Amino acid sequence: MTAGKFITFEGIDGAGKSTHIAYVADLLHGRGNTVITTREPGGTALGEALRNLLLHEKMHLETEALLMFAARREHLAQVIEPALARGDWVISDRFTDATFAYQGGGRKLSLPKLAVLEQWVHPGLQPDLTLLFDVPLEVARARLDATRDLDKFEQEKTDFFAATRAEYLRRAAEFPERFRVIDSTQPITEVHKTLDEIVSSI
Ligand code: TYD
Repeated sequence: MTAGKFITFEGIDGAGKSTHIAYVADLLHGRGNTVITTREPGGTALGEALRNLLLHEKMHLETEALLMFAARREHLAQVIEPALARGDWVISDRFTDATFAYQGGGRKLSLPKLAVLEQWVHPGLQPDLTLLFDVPLEVARARLDATRDLDKFEQEKTDFFAATRAEYLRRAAEFPERFRVIDSTQPITEVHKTLDEIVSSI
């Protein structure tokens, strides 16, 4: 058993990250760790209520960014920080990189303004590892088009996802010690092999 780490999963809609979360949680669990899987926006009762608004209601774009961070503040206080303090592992389906990518890249909000909110909400805390599942836009679009009941973000156009993906990749290059970019066009067995290697190295 090792002291818990904070792992985040990121990628544009349709990049296929969600299917890999259970796999990584099982790997860590198999090594004797207590693993908590959670998601953003969400992870708490209040956060899930905010998620419902964020994914379905029209709102000012800065309101959207503020609510993402409001949900995150609650998530940190109720779930993430207590779990890490206990020595548990935490896997979050999205975290602050998503706000920089979607609200900063996709929505074109000011990155310095988002950085102020990041400093406010989690000064001194960053994920230990961020797995960025990357696919070309056409692949993501085809996966989304096979889905029914698309939410507000999933209904966005190609330009939005191009800018979101570009900001994710820019951040991966800016923080290479924390990010691992995974080519999510590979067959699942290949992605699993990559995940096995990453998990055994942490
Ligand atoms: P997602 O994680 O893709 O869940 P699902 O797989 O159930 O659709 O959905 C969350 C959406 O919220 C996704 O479109 C990205 C968006 N989002 C932001 O725009 N900013 C953020 O800070 C976060 C955490 C998510």
